Amino acid sequence: MTAQLIDGNALSKKIRADVAGRTQALRARGIQPALAIVLVGSDPASQVYTRHKVNDSTETGLQATLETYPADLSEEKLLARIRELNADPAVHGILVQLPLPKHLNASKVIETIAPAKDVDGFHVASAGALVTGQPGFWPCTPYGCMKMLESIGYDLRGKHAVVIGRSNIVGKPMALMLLQKNATVTICHSGTTDLKAHTRQADVVVAAVGKRNVLTADMVKPGAVVIDVGMNRDEAGKLCGDVDFAGVREVAGWITPVPGGVGPMTRAMLLVNTLEAAERAAG
Ligand code: GUN
Repeated sequence: MTAQLIDGNALSKKIRADVAGRTQALRARGIQPALAIVLVGSDPASQVYTRHKVNDSTETGLQATLETYPADLSEEKLLARIRELNADPAVHGILVQLPLPKHLNASKVIETIAPAKDVDGFHVASAGALVTGQPGFWPCTPYGCMKMLESIGYDLRGKHAVVIGRSNIVGKPMALMLLQKNATVTICHSGTTDLKAHTRQADVVVAAVGKRNVLTADMVKPGAVVIDVGMNRDEAGKLCGDVDFAGVREVAGWITPVPGGVGPMTRAMLLVNTLEAAERAAG
């Protein structure tokens, strides 16, 4: 059996078209949804990511501004700028690109963003809202994974979902989202003694470790849904995920590719969150 692909490019295109339509409706009411992106320093990867975020936004009719500051920007100045953005009614979403230079306290910076504008979903208030099932912003990567499951009509109720990885921005929120849909959830991590014993039982596996070949064919139950959040490079420098794609696709029922899987979904969900922030502000 060869798994069916869950095409993140195609799905993200549909989501972006929906965002564009809803954005148009807000603009017709005189509201221009706007995202403020703050980049401190000149990390090359961050420069690429933030450029993508600006382009994705403008393509869907959202306004995005990229503010770039030198790497030695003081914490005081950065926090003051975030407070200004919090107070600006023309700004609906605020994103501070990570990682920040070492002298800046990332937690303090994120906690300074108004929760109503936290389109990354990284604020403790956003995390708390997810834990308790209250409205808030969901982190874009696990949110995109949930949309992928939804796109194949997958009913999570009573299913066993195994999340590999426990980061604050992917693994933990992913587990909570799956739980909210009534899955039985296991979180595996570097301290897990027998990873395969868990994944072999899983109807859904989400691999979010950041290491190649974390999940191989022998670790997957036939027919399982496999979602690959990883973004790694192989020996040849080719982009690959955490899953041994060639092997696992022969066992799984559904699988997400890398590239073209979770990556474009993460980008699309930032647009969804930004639009949502503007819609909530508009009432
Ligand atoms: N750096 C890498 N990914 C992200 C992201 O999703 N949000 C922010 N703010 N920084 C990042």
